[in-house]
Amino acid sequence: MGIVGAGFVGPHHIDAVRRLGFVDVVAVAGSNDASAKAKAEALHVPRGYGSYEALIDDPDVHVVHNATPNYLHYRVTAAAIAKGKHVISDKPLAMTAAESGKLLEQAKRAGIVHAVTFNYRGNPLVQQARHAIERGDIGKPHFVHGYYLQDWLSRDTDYSWRLEPDKGGASSALGDIGSHWCDLAQHVSGLRITHVLGDITTVVPSRKRPKASRDAFSAAAKADDTELVDIRVEDLASVLVRFDNGAKGTFSAGQVCPGHKNDLVLEICGSAASLLWRQENQNELWVGHRERPNEVLQKDPSLIDSDVRGYAHLPGGHQEAWADAFCNLMRDIYGFIAAGPGAERPPAMATFEDGYRANCIVEAILESARKGGVWLPVD
Ligand SMILES: NC(=O)c1ccc[n+]([C@@H]2O[C@H](COP(=O)([O-])OP(=O)(O)OC[C@H]3O[C@@H](n4cnc5c(N)ncnc54)[C@H](O)[C@@H]3O)[C@@H](O)[C@H]2O)c1
Repeated sequence: MGIVGAGFVGPHHIDAVRRLGFVDVVAVAGSNDASAKAKAEALHVPRGYGSYEALIDDPDVHVVHNATPNYLHYRVTAAAIAKGKHVISDKPLAMTAAESGKLLEQAKRAGIVHAVTFNYRGNPLVQQARHAIERGDIGKPHFVHGYYLQDWLSRDTDYSWRLEPDKGGASSALGDIGSHWCDLAQHVSGLRITHVLGDITTVVPSRKRPKASRDAFSAAAKADDTELVDIRVEDLASVLVRFDNGAKGTFSAGQVCPGHKNDLVLEICGSAASLLWRQENQNELWVGHRERPNEVLQKDPSLIDSDVRGYAHLPGGHQEAWADAFCNLMRDIYGFIAAGPGAERPPAMATFEDGYRANCIVEAILESARKGGVWLPVD
């Protein structure tokens, strides 16, 4: 594999792929020769390229990981597909649904394997919940709700390229983390979001942008030289959703909620039982009952269904976490690539179709909010 972009999340792609044991990490591409060579050396990757084109041209690179800022997703992924490479893109698949749709079509035409890192799918108890719902354990799902809240943009000294529409896209909170929530809600419930009604807010309307670049999720240093800029994207959103089986739902996404670090919560209430999973407490799955005491299922390979046991790698009480779920996703994707054409796609593997769908949902929510909060279909 070769990876384009090795900032915050890129090294986690490398780490996850290395743990598989049957994939060689061949190259990393950065924005220039010097930074690429420095990243390659620091990450112990043999080749460092100063351009993504050079990495894509390397015949030893069969799979291209795209971990660049959002505005580069389309061009890097399109170039990789054009050379017949398999692509694993970080989310969002592209800045707009129109671009994502084009990438999906191009990938299908080229016959390459295409995946998007909606990595929360890789958690063992997420797969347990999905499997239980598919089997009918909670009856008919009728309410899907939750939130994805973070606090790393709560002060006006917090800054990221994610807040600049030309680099991050038209949305911040929804595109960056709301998209994860929507994908997970659909994946676990087995339902599709068909309509949305959105209310969006920019809680911090102007920010002190550092004149020099700063690592993702890092706080400002006192000595940072800054300039005041107006923020045009939302950092908080509340959304009502409807699903294709008639189920209703609601979720919030915000990056300005102190104390919530990476707090993704998903609850699905059905006619017979409810299930709740919380990313910050990811080794437990709450099961709600009407006629008997509620339960908390621990992540323990001996307690979860045999069909999803492959996602848990340690005995009960040995906590598994974000990086393990990321690795599970890579195991599914690379297993699918290795199996070759005709193989059955593992359900936890999100494709460009899922990435395209996420873009469509976010755009519908933004449009709904722009129109003053009206129900809109997700086209
Ligand atoms: N799946 C997840 O949970 C998750 C988590 C974090 C980020 N992401 C996604 O991953 C992507 C990257 O986010 P990040 O937080 O790592 O950002 P980042 O800013 O920390 O890293 C981006 C990297 O890309 C490099 N880069 C910029 N221009 C380049 C070019 N022309 N060629 C090659 N490299 C270039 C930058 O130098 C930087 O090292 C985003 O799209 C983000 O949405 C996903």
